[in-house]
Amino acid sequence: MNKVGSSTTWVYVADEESIPFGEGRRVRWKDLELALFRSPAGWFALDNACPHRQGPLADGIVAGKAVFCPLHSWKISLENGCVLSGGEGKVKAYPVKFEEGRVYIAFEEEKA
Ligand code: FES
Repeated sequence: MNKVGSSTTWVYVADEESIPFGEGRRVRWKDLELALFRSPAGWFALDNACPHRQGPLADGIVAGKAVFCPLHSWKISLENGCVLSGGEGKVKAYPVKFEEGRVYIAFEEEKA
C-alpha cells in the first residue's frame, strides 16, 4: 500500500476544568501517549516521553512555555518540543485548540 498523503484530525482530549493551571496530564489517542499542559501561556501537547530517558513529561514542572522533566530536570519547550537546557534532543509537539471549555489535539493520519 502506498501513502498518498495525510489529513489532520482534531480529537477531543479533555475538559478545561480537568487540568489545573500550571499542570500537565497524560492523554491517550490510539497507540500514542501524550502530555497535555495547561500553562498560563496557553495549552500545549507533547509526546509524554522525555528525549533523555523517557521520563513522563506530564508529571513535570511547568514554567511559562517550558516543562522541566520530573526525572533529571531537562528543560523542554512546550511550543516546539526542543530541549532548552540539560541536554540535546526534541520531542514531538502537537497543535492544540481550545473551544468552549473543551481541549482538542491535532493528529496526522495517513491516507492510503
Ligand atoms: S528522563 Fe527527562 S531529564 Fe532524564
